[in-house]
Amino acid sequence: MKKSFQILLPFDRHGHLREVNTLMPEVLIHSLKSFWGMVVMPNTAIPITDYESAVRYREEIKTLSNKYGFGGNFLPVMTGYLTDNTNPENVKSGFLNGAWKAMKLYPHGATTNSDKGVTKLEKIFPVLEMMQKIGMSVLVHPETDVSRSDIPFMDRERVYTEESLFLIHERFPELTISVEHISTREAMEFVEWCPDNVVGTITPQHIMYTHDALFHNGVPPFKPGLYPENMCLPILKTQDDVNYIRNAIMHGERRYKFGAGTDTAPHTQTAKKENCSRCGVFNASHAVEFYTMIFDQEGMLNDEKGIQTFQNFMSVNNLWIYGIKEFPTEMITLVKEDQQIPEIYPGDIRPFKAGQTIPWTMKRELIK
Ligand code: DOR
Ligand code: ZN
Repeated sequence: MKKSFQILLPFDRHGHLREVNTLMPEVLIHSLKSFWGMVVMPNTAIPITDYESAVRYREEIKTLSNKYGFGGNFLPVMTGYLTDNTNPENVKSGFLNGAWKAMKLYPHGATTNSDKGVTKLEKIFPVLEMMQKIGMSVLVHPETDVSRSDIPFMDRERVYTEESLFLIHERFPELTISVEHISTREAMEFVEWCPDNVVGTITPQHIMYTHDALFHNGVPPFKPGLYPENMCLPILKTQDDVNYIRNAIMHGERRYKFGAGTDTAPHTQTAKKENCSRCGVFNASHAVEFYTMIFDQEGMLNDEKGIQTFQNFMSVNNLWIYGIKEFPTEMITLVKEDQQIPEIYPGDIRPFKAGQTIPWTMKRELIK
């Protein structure tokens, strides 16, 4: 068994950085250390609904990256937030002038800061039509909206897949779609079944834990309790879903369609304790190690072929949908060496697997 190996510096295809006057100064540093860029989600306190706001948000991220000494080494890929009233002309101008690369579809009220999300798919058909024409990608939060709150949380992604993902793809067959933070067998099968313009992102939490982890911390013996730090949307699913996703990204014929998107989504510990409905897992600090653990558990890191699959998943797959064709040549080293995850980070942020010891450590030259 290998004690260490190298891969190209990873790219986070899905992350939340919050606002510069809230948690961004505390959380950004973790992503800077492990990734060369991030597809930045637009569900900020005031959502990023026009490209001018995306440009300002990108400047804030860049200013802070510079301050932390990462300057030109970090690429924030900006996205916009679709609403019922999104102006197709603004979307198009922002795409053509490079302000943003994709739009995010939040079904109304489906998750954090999605109150301005889309109430009916038909309302955004003109925008999707235009995006299809200009080659701009749509990223989908694949869960039903609040008008369907009768649907159990465990089923929201399956129902959305059946009712809406197929519909979007059938209506706009050439549109590039990324199904975000997939948590079910059905959404995976949808992506695998579609042609290559439909891809997906995968978080560590959705392939490490099942919904049971809402009631224990993942370390045997599993003592019952409530673990808001494992609360995220889509909700963690079943062992069958976990097994299916793991197999598809490691061995599936269509594994090249799936890439790492951490969905790192910080909330303060205080807010999470007060209200378990603050959904989001903060995993940016050790996300690369979490994915490594998962691939290692499946025996993928014992030979070059498996490591190549891992590298593609972390650093290569799907970046084309943002127009990224060239990657930095910097390598990181993963060493089979225990490390302990802190209980809490500055900003009152409790990380995923807080206080636990994990068997892999990432080393990067840039970090002294
Ligand atoms: O768990 C989640 N947290 N899922 C989302 O879709 C949004 C995110 C957040 O912004 O906190
Ligand atoms: Zn997210």
